[in-house]
Amino acid sequence: MEHTAEPKPRTLAELVRALHRLFAGDEVNVEEVQAVLEAYDSDPAEWAPYAAFDQYSSIHDHTDSHCFLKMLQGNLKETLFAWPDKKSNEMTKKSERTLRENQCAYINDSIGLHRVENVSHTEPAVSLHLYSPPFDTCHAFDQRTGHKNKVTMTFHSKFGVRTPFPTSGSLENN
Ligand SMILES: [Fe+2]
Repeated sequence: MEHTAEPKPRTLAELVRALHRLFAGDEVNVEEVQAVLEAYDSDPAEWAPYAAFDQYSSIHDHTDSHCFLKMLQGNLKETLFAWPDKKSNEMTKKSERTLRENQCAYINDSIGLHRVENVSHTEPAVSLHLYSPPFDTCHAFDQRTGHKNKVTMTFHSKFGVRTPFPTSGSLENN
């Protein structure tokens, strides 16, 4: 199939429009989505209304969806884990890396599970997450036992407007 590469998005609004075009069909081209997310030069003035802060995520899966993580500010450490097997208790760490500003990482369930965290106590980190198809629940894993808990996805805000507080067991940042 013939397609034209997306031009470099100059604004967050342009990035969103480019993503709508890339997700218009039935197929997701991971490299293309990753490239357009990486091409957007983060501008804090554009995303500040949507930012919510938390120091680290649980170890979690992605419910058979594609997950793109674009760094908007600072650095995050991503630790990759294997799916727990039934015999061993502890979860196996596969690798870790530092995601840097404007970089775009990708994960799905066949790659493994991950945790993302800001290891800096002074520098804030902000990331933009894109999931396709969208999902309502995922699993959080206990690193020492491998036990998993189903968690419900919630919105911290919608279009920059704070949503009501969730009751329990939610995961806003993954
Ligand atoms: Fe994730």
